Amino acid sequence: SNGIFTYDPGFVSTAACESAITYIDGDKGVLLHRGYPIEQLAEHSDFLEVCYLLLYGELPDADAREKFSNTILHHTMVHEQIISFLKGFRRDAHPMAIMCGLVGALSSFYHDSLDINNERHREITAHRLISKMPTLAAMAYKYSVGQPFVYPRNELSYGGNFLHMMFATPCEEYKVNPVLAKAMDRIFLLHADHEQNASTSTVRLAGSSGANPFACIASGIAALWGPAHGGANEAVLKMLEEIGNEKHIDTFIKRAKDKDDPFRLMGFGHRVYKNFDPRAKVMKQTCDEVLGELGINDPLLRIAKRLEQIALEDEYFVERKLYPNVDFYSGIILKALGIPVEMFTVIFATGRTPGWIAHWHEMISHSYRIGRPRQLYTGPAKRDYPAK
Ligand code: SDX
Repeated sequence: SNGIFTYDPGFVSTAACESAITYIDGDKGVLLHRGYPIEQLAEHSDFLEVCYLLLYGELPDADAREKFSNTILHHTMVHEQIISFLKGFRRDAHPMAIMCGLVGALSSFYHDSLDINNERHREITAHRLISKMPTLAAMAYKYSVGQPFVYPRNELSYGGNFLHMMFATPCEEYKVNPVLAKAMDRIFLLHADHEQNASTSTVRLAGSSGANPFACIASGIAALWGPAHGGANEAVLKMLEEIGNEKHIDTFIKRAKDKDDPFRLMGFGHRVYKNFDPRAKVMKQTCDEVLGELGINDPLLRIAKRLEQIALEDEYFVERKLYPNVDFYSGIILKALGIPVEMFTVIFATGRTPGWIAHWHEMISHSYRIGRPRQLYTGPAKRDYPAK
């Protein structure tokens, strides 16, 4: 009761939706996509196979896998007119602002010919979004650095194509390093889905009104942008650069524990995980692999590892079950791949697209009602307008 109204406890129960896509056990640090542990998918699968798994519920056989991969890799171009839309942005626009705009704008290029009440059209929509996100992401980057857009190449892998569109220029041949392409693919895979997180819930809520899927995904991109969510990977790198040296770590740990200081240890803690985020462990291994392969000795990695070690031994973090999450190490890998920090959350959005669209598809394919969260009213009770 808030002194005005007494609420029935049932009323305030957390409204949960049903989904068969992803299962998380936060206490045990378990993440399953359609029952398969993320660790095994990261080791044995790849991003497109996980996209198929999220969308269709089963791993593809060889034929289905080839057909799906061909479909995705042969629809990566976007309508040429998107370039005119993109050129309306300031050159220094944040790439996430551009992605919100571009993906929402896709509805004016593709949605008119797609009827979301038609199962085949829903499937095509899901495919087109997975195909085109890397192209849009790379265009946002090229625009920000004033370089010409690079068209996708059908013969390249999903991760390799993205790196090619990001870093190729008309001046010389860009050779895709297979190790980096695999690392890029692994990063997309680790971000593919994560149950009812803030951005996925946003996509579902938008979809429940019957809004077109491109608009729904654009709403997910907007929700992901915040530093408490997908924006954390960008914030982690900036935090590590601000720490600058292992001897300053204690100062930041102290700040993170200070209730009067808004600073939080970016890349640490989670709404659900009260144990290690299993993705963080895989990301840390990938970090070591990529930096080792490239012969990069990034001091930020040393700072990150030392910070993790200190925090995991500090009672404040131990008591509150705060562990590294998916964002803690991802930025160091992306930096090693040559990707600028402003693009980190765009990479997260690109990786998360199959999860968003799988949740949208799951909800739309069954009978659903518009989402309508309720509230605990804390305002004044009914009162009359004062007589003049
Ligand atoms: C993602 O939901 C998902 O699945 C999201 C995601 C996905 O894949 O979609 O996993 C991706 O968003 C990962 C999270 C990325 N965000 C960050 O790394 C930002 C830093 N983390 C925090 O802002 C925070 O941990 C949150 C936002 C992630 C969770 O915030 P909560 O729910 O408030 O954390 P909590 O309830 O567990 O907090 C318990 C206590 C609180 O202190 P007390 O009031 O008990 O004294 O721990 C404190 C918090 O203040 N706390 C932190 C902290 N995180 C929580 N203190 C210092 N540093 C932190 N990072």
